[in-house]
Amino acid sequence: MLPEFFEFYNPTKIVYQIGIATDLKPELDIIGIKKYFIISDHVISDLGLVQKVADGLANVGFETVGRYLDVAQDARLNDVKKCADLVKASGAEGIISIGGGSVIDTAKAVNILFSEGGDLVDDYSGAHTLTRPLKPHIVIPTTAGTGSEVTMAAVIYDEDNKEKLAFPDKFLLPNLAVLDPEMTLSLPPKMTAATGMDAMTHAVEAYVGIQSSPISDVMAAGAIELIMKNLVRAVENGDDIEARGGMLVAATMAGIAFTHSMVGVVHAMAHAAGAHYRVPHGVANGILLPYGLDYNFDFIYEKLARLAPVMGVAAQGISDEDAARNVIAAIRSMTGKLNELGALPIRLRDTGVPEDGPAVIAEGALNDGSSFYNPRPMDEEELLPYVQNAY
Ligand SMILES: [Fe+2]
Repeated sequence: MLPEFFEFYNPTKIVYQIGIATDLKPELDIIGIKKYFIISDHVISDLGLVQKVADGLANVGFETVGRYLDVAQDARLNDVKKCADLVKASGAEGIISIGGGSVIDTAKAVNILFSEGGDLVDDYSGAHTLTRPLKPHIVIPTTAGTGSEVTMAAVIYDEDNKEKLAFPDKFLLPNLAVLDPEMTLSLPPKMTAATGMDAMTHAVEAYVGIQSSPISDVMAAGAIELIMKNLVRAVENGDDIEARGGMLVAATMAGIAFTHSMVGVVHAMAHAAGAHYRVPHGVANGILLPYGLDYNFDFIYEKLARLAPVMGVAAQGISDEDAARNVIAAIRSMTGKLNELGALPIRLRDTGVPEDGPAVIAEGALNDGSSFYNPRPMDEEELLPYVQNAY
C-alpha cells in the first residue's frame, strides 16, 4: 500500500570510483570554484589521507587554502566556531570534509557560519532555519556508516551545556559525496564492524519505519543486501577493496533511506547508551538491533518478511512471522560472526554498561526523538525486558 504522502529529496550528487578522491577535476570543474578549505581530524591526517586529497587538488590546479584537523570524536560547538573563523579568514570559496560523521557534521555546521555568519545556537537553532543554499561542500567519507554525506542533519555537542544539538536543514545536504573505497582501507576491524552495523541499523529501521516510502524502501533494501554480502568480508580482510566499496555504497544508500524515513527504537536506545555509558553509537546499534526488532515484531513482521530474499534467508512456503524471524536470526548470525572475529560485542554488559543500566537506557529511549518514529508505541515498562535481554 502506498503512503498517503511522501517526499523524496536527494540533491547530493554521488560519485563512486576506486581512487576518485584524488582525481576530482571533472567534478570540481562543474562546481566551478578554485579555493577549498579542508576539514578533517588527526587520525585521518596521520594516515596521509588529507595530504593525498590536497595533492590531488594541487595537481589539477585547485588550491587548499587552509586545514582544520582538530575535530574531536564528537562534533563540538567550540570546534565549529574556531574552524569557521579560520575558514572565513582563509579566502576559501568552499569546504571539503574528509572523515566520519563527526568531521562531516562539523563541516556542515561550519558551512552555516562561513556562508551566512551569525551565531550557530542563537541564530540557527531549530529545524530548517536556513533560507538559501550555502557555499559548496564536498564530502569524502572515510568510514562506511553514518551516511552523513547524504543526510540533512548536523549533530553538534555543546560541551558547556553538555547537550547534543541537532540542526536539520535541507541546505545542509552536501553538494557532492565522493565514495572512494581506498579512503576506507585503513579503518580498523572494530571500527569497520561498528560503523557497518550503524549503517545496517539505519537501513533496517528506515525500512520498517512509519515514514517509509517505496523510494526509501529500495534504498534501504539495497543497502541491507550489500551489507549482508560485504560487512563480514570487510572486517575479515580490511584490504578487500570490493567489500570496502560495497560497504561505502551501502552506508550512503542507508543514509538516503533514513534521512527520509527516520530511525526508531534501536537508535533511541543507542543514543541513551551513548549518553549515559559512552557506548559507541555503532556498537550500541549492533547489539540492540535484533532486540529492537523483537520489541517491534507484531507491528513490523509483514514488512520485515519482505527482506528475506535480499538477506538470503528462507521465506518460501512459510508464514510472514517465520520469514521475519529468519530475518532477525540472520542479523543475529551476522553480529555473532563479527563477535567471533573479536570486532563487535553482542551484549551490553561487555561495553561497560552497569547492571542497572538497562532501566536507564529504557527510560532514556523514551525521551529520545527517534522514539517518535517507531512503529510500535514506546512504553518504558514494555521495552525494559528487551533491553535486559540485550544485557
Ligand atoms: Fe546511526
